[in-house]
Amino acid sequence: MYWIFSGSDDMTGRIIGLLGSPLSGGNTARLLDRAIQGARDAGCDVEKVVVADLDFEACKETMFCTEHETCIMDDDMQAMYQKFREMDGIIIATPVMTMGIPGKFKSFMDRFQVFFMAKYMRNRSLVAREKRAKRKGLLISISGMNIPGVFDGVLLTVRAFLDIIDCQYGDELLICDMDTIRDIDTRQDLLQAAYDKGYALGKALNT
Ligand SMILES: Cc1cc2nc3c(=O)[nH]c(=O)nc-3n(C[C@H](O)[C@H](O)[C@H](O)COP(=O)(O)O)c2cc1C
Repeated sequence: MYWIFSGSDDMTGRIIGLLGSPLSGGNTARLLDRAIQGARDAGCDVEKVVVADLDFEACKETMFCTEHETCIMDDDMQAMYQKFREMDGIIIATPVMTMGIPGKFKSFMDRFQVFFMAKYMRNRSLVAREKRAKRKGLLISISGMNIPGVFDGVLLTVRAFLDIIDCQYGDELLICDMDTIRDIDTRQDLLQAAYDKGYALGKALNT
């Protein structure tokens, strides 16, 4: 399977825009779309992946990936493994749910045990060495509440996921108090911040 992008060449940074929210038109999604626009304006090819639209099950611990470079579960994750090997960067966008990330999004990350086993158990990362050196991630996360540590769960999980897929934690946009803000469209400054961070990531990956 190959990365499908129109007009892409070897020098063009390939970014995945990963939406973890169950809402495809919610506040997280709108922030992600701005960040994606920024990365595209910086010259990158960006593919948006909406976890809520994927058909897959949670990791069943079959342990097939202890010896194989994929999972025995034949579902939408198979295509994800290839995309996540080939990408140069990622924008992860997620709301805080029960002080962590949404359940289906967590299951999505758990299925990258395929990458974990290759990297840490067999000492043979699925990501090519030259890509490993430059892959970067941007995290966009929003929470309803404005309390200390509200992003701690998200940060622990996202940092672990980025380690597993051989991607540096590059930058973040953490927006709390969405219960007060309610509609992100009323905060053009925050949407602009998402655009700017997406643009910066795109520039960093296209040099
Ligand atoms: C099931 C659920 C659990 C949530 N848990 C938390 C939480 O633990 N802490 C918090 O600050 N906000 C929590 N929220 C609020 C969301 O983070 C907030 O509404 C966010 O803006 C949703 O983003 P979205 O509209 O893009 O999905 C929760 C929302 C839902 C629906």
